[in-house]
Amino acid sequence: MKGIILAGGAGSRLYPLTQVASKQLQPVYDKPMVYYPLTVLIASGIREFCLISTPQDIPRFQQLLGDGKRWGISIEYREQARPEGIAQAFLIAESFIGSDPVTLILGDNLFFGGDAFPRAVADFKSGATIFAYHVNDPERYGVVEFDAEGHVMSLEEKPKVPRGNYAVPGVYLYDNDVVAIARELKPSDRGELEITDVNKEYLRRGTLRVQRLSRGTAWLDAGTSSSLHEASAYVQTIEKRQGVKLGCPEEAALHRKFLSRDQFESVVSAMPECEYSSYLRSVIEQSHWLPQGRPE
Ligand code: G1P
Repeated sequence: MKGIILAGGAGSRLYPLTQVASKQLQPVYDKPMVYYPLTVLIASGIREFCLISTPQDIPRFQQLLGDGKRWGISIEYREQARPEGIAQAFLIAESFIGSDPVTLILGDNLFFGGDAFPRAVADFKSGATIFAYHVNDPERYGVVEFDAEGHVMSLEEKPKVPRGNYAVPGVYLYDNDVVAIARELKPSDRGELEITDVNKEYLRRGTLRVQRLSRGTAWLDAGTSSSLHEASAYVQTIEKRQGVKLGCPEEAALHRKFLSRDQFESVVSAMPECEYSSYLRSVIEQSHWLPQGRPE
């Protein structure tokens, strides 16, 4: 399974913050936003990544994330010159995807808690797996309608009158057919290749699985100044209460054994003295049970 992080867009709703750095580079409490979706996919066992962003932001992401070696992963970069839709990611990243299945995560979607994604990646065989999350304001999202037995009845992108409260969050697992499906898409009224149209095609083929995320999972969006602030407050509250950090790619890479303990230690020793590195040192102390040697 390969992983795409889509971190494009003008970020106009976060102006003036986004004049010098894109939305997905803004801090969510103590880390850049993109660390959170990256951590979700590392924790799901994905090691090969492609990050898609605007031509002006790619160098900034490269400066932040590099080639991914320090997390035991690889990261390639591709440009999305214009914001022409989420589904365009599969065309932009076609050579990266090759003949593999792929998980796409949106760079501004923040998920905390639960093990739905690692399980879905481990169980994935074919077709598409997407998720559904109960929200208060479904009209802002892709909306999935269920019948009384939990079967999927319809999918709609930002409907004025939503058929239920289940929104589709920005994590999508697809088999390799997604590239051919994306190639056949026509732009929507807002001029974008819609991810909802990809999902509708899998629904039409009878190969779409929609998994409801439990209440124990938090899905936050950080696209406006107030939701960005709320996401930061959420992360701070949990980190302070539990003494663990959310969205740490190093920690996820250690737990996934993408990094051995020795490799992890040398990554941490290259960091400056700060709260982040001292947290990671505490992770080493608590992880003495982890086997030494090369990652599996
Ligand atoms: C996009 C998708 C939508 C999905 C949402 C998740 O919306 O089009 O289906 O529910 O991401 O964040 P947009 O980023 O265009 O608001």
